[in-house]
Amino acid sequence: MTRVLSCIQPTGPVHLGNYLGALRNWVSGQHECDAFHGIVDLHALTVTDRPGVVGENTLELAATLFAVGLDPEVATVFVQSHVPEHTQLGWIMECTVSYGELSRMTQFKDKAAKREADFVSAGLFTYPALQAADILLYDADDVPVGEDQRQHIEITRDIAERFNTRFGATFVVPKMVTPKAGAKVTDLQDPTSKMSKSSGGDAGIVYLHDDPSVIMKKFKRAVTDSDSEVHFDRAHKPGVSNLLEILAACTGRSPEEVAAGYQQYGPLKNDTGEAVVEVLRPIQERHRSLLEDRAELSRLLRRGAEKARVVASSTLARAYRNIGLLPLDV
Ligand code: AMP
Ligand code: TRP
Repeated sequence: MTRVLSCIQPTGPVHLGNYLGALRNWVSGQHECDAFHGIVDLHALTVTDRPGVVGENTLELAATLFAVGLDPEVATVFVQSHVPEHTQLGWIMECTVSYGELSRMTQFKDKAAKREADFVSAGLFTYPALQAADILLYDADDVPVGEDQRQHIEITRDIAERFNTRFGATFVVPKMVTPKAGAKVTDLQDPTSKMSKSSGGDAGIVYLHDDPSVIMKKFKRAVTDSDSEVHFDRAHKPGVSNLLEILAACTGRSPEEVAAGYQQYGPLKNDTGEAVVEVLRPIQERHRSLLEDRAELSRLLRRGAEKARVVASSTLARAYRNIGLLPLDV
C-alpha cells in the first residue's frame, strides 16, 4: 500500500486554503493509502518563542485534524515533538544537505526578509533538513502538499538520493503529489496572493472556525474584478476565479462548470459563502466537542505517537547502521 505523509505547522488557526488545499485531501487519502500526518510543532519554533503558545496551538490543531475527519483508527496522527527521531534524523539531514542548497530556498529568503529587523534563527535556515527528516523517517512514497512546498520536496529527494549513494539504500525517495480541485486558494481581499495567515488582514482569510455570519460577510466583501463577466481565468480575473475555484471545490465540480451558472458577481459571492458555511458546519461542531474533552485528545495523540515511533525508530536505526555509527554493543 502506498505510504503517504504530510505535516502541518501549529502556527495559528487553520484557514480555508489549508483545508481545501491540504487537509481535505488528507482525509480522503486515508482510506486509499497508509497515511501519516504530523503536527510539526518543532518547525513552528523557527518563528515563535512565546512560552506556551505552541502547545496550545498544537492541541487546537489536533482537534481540527480529527474534526475534519482524520480517523485515529485509520491514519497515524502525531505531534512531531512526541517522536524524538525527527530531531535525531534532522541532524543527519543537516549533514547531508549543503549550505548552498539551503541558501537557494525561496521560503527561507521570503520569511527571513519579512522578519526584517526581527531575529532570524538558524532553524529557519535549516528548516528543510528537518522537513526532510519528517518525510524520510516514514519511508513515504507520496507527499501531498500545495505548490508552495515544491522546492522543499525537491530538496528532500536530493538529500535522500545523496544519502543512498553515500551509505547504501536507506531511504525511499518520495514524490510530491498535488490535489486537483482547490489546490490554490487566494486571499479574498488580495486575490493575487495566496490565502495565508502571514498575509495582511483577516478580512481576506476565512478561518475554519469563523461564525457563519462572519464567513458570509467575508465573501460578500470579496474583491472581484473591474468588468462584470463571470468566467474562469486566473491571470485576468483573479478575484472571480478564486470564488469559482472555492465553490467548485466545495461542490465537487470544475470551476468552468460552476462559471456557466452565473451572470453576476452578487449571486456567485453569496452561493460561495453558503457552500463554505455548509462544508464547515459539521467540522465546527466536532471541533467544539473534541476540545471539551482534553483527556480524549491526549489519548488519541499518545496512540498516534506510539504508532509513529514504531516506524520512525526502525528507519533511524537503519540510517545509523548504514552510516556506520558505533553501536552501543560493539
Ligand atoms: P501552512 O499554513 O502554510 O503551514 O500550510 C499548511 C498546508 O496547507 C500546506 O500543505 C500548504 O501547501 C497548504 N496551504 C496553505 N495555504 C494554502 C492556500 N492558500 N491554498 C492552498 N493550499 C494552501
Ligand atoms: N513546510 C511545510 C509547510 O510549511 C510543513 C511541513 C513540515 C511538511 N514537515 C513536512 C509538509 C513534511 C509535508 C511533509 O507547510
